Amino acid sequence: MSERASREVLAYAPGESSQRAWSIPASWYLSEEIAELERELVFGRAWALAARAEEVAESGSYVSGIAGDLPWVLTRAEDGEVRALANVCRHKASLVCDGAGRAERLVCPYHGWAYRLDGTLASAPRTAGILGGKGVPRRLGLPALGLSRWGALYFVHRDVHARPLGELVPAAPSGRIWRDAERLVWWGSKRWELACNWKVFVDNYLDGGYHVPHVHPGLDAQLAMGTYRTEIGPGWSLQSAGAAEDDEAARARIGEGADYLWLWPNVMINRYGPVLDINVVQPLGPRRCRVDFEFWFDRERLDDPEAFIADSVARSVATQEEDQAICERVQVGIASRTWAQGPLAPGVEAAIRGFHRQLATTLQGGVARRRVESA
Ligand SMILES: [Fe+2]
Repeated sequence: MSERASREVLAYAPGESSQRAWSIPASWYLSEEIAELERELVFGRAWALAARAEEVAESGSYVSGIAGDLPWVLTRAEDGEVRALANVCRHKASLVCDGAGRAERLVCPYHGWAYRLDGTLASAPRTAGILGGKGVPRRLGLPALGLSRWGALYFVHRDVHARPLGELVPAAPSGRIWRDAERLVWWGSKRWELACNWKVFVDNYLDGGYHVPHVHPGLDAQLAMGTYRTEIGPGWSLQSAGAAEDDEAARARIGEGADYLWLWPNVMINRYGPVLDINVVQPLGPRRCRVDFEFWFDRERLDDPEAFIADSVARSVATQEEDQAICERVQVGIASRTWAQGPLAPGVEAAIRGFHRQLATTLQGGVARRRVESA
């Protein structure tokens, strides 16, 4: 890492109180080197949302994907256990499987090395004499990853000994997000690509509803903005608001209120009325990101599920398009180099402050360690 980038990381001070809080500086939203540092220190050491529990409900099923630069596969082997494994062949490092399905063995497409769903190596063609033995040593199985179930979701972690995600999120916000979880049915997903740094999208999510009246007239009409509250913990924050009382459609959609839970670093879960939707933002370099939405509905609560779902998804899409437009405007402004950093409004932007402090602690700790190591 260059001396200049190190200095940019170490120079930021988040402010000793919420009344004196500043955002992270412009360079953190622009620099390739800081994006690289985040890949290692933020995304490489965090729980990543991997799959819905239903995707590995049956024995013999698997589902695979990639979180940052970590290719994972979740399996349910014949012993009934769900495992998270690195989806990387021990031979030449090819990705082993794609997508999801059912199989007795996961067979690498490159040279045919085959793994059982518990990760152990089952067979490897033409390996007589390899490493001086009769065949490939059994220890060359797919490496185990950390696995955490939280609600109806599985998360994976590079470190098999990482503290379970469920222990990081307190019972109260967890219970609010997963109320009536057994009735939630996954509907589908949508994907966006945005011309902004992933943190611009997170900041926008965490601004305590500050932008809602300005950017989202439709959503603003459905929420009682005077009831907006923010709670902050280590690695999570929860923003909540009640439904607009004089609006019948709002009460049907928002129900007893809306909860917006953010999980460090990039998972956002929205729970309101019969709706749960999840937004995951992934960096695609310093100035682009991808946002995946997953929609779930409690259909038992709906008189006319198809009509409700079509309307609700359309409203979410409209909100997301409004967020995309504003986030891309912000990225242009940050890139102008006329903005160095911005003050955070103490009454509304506490969750952004929490995010920026955690990011600063993480990156500054990593840079300081590197300096000690290279001194
Ligand atoms: Fe928004």
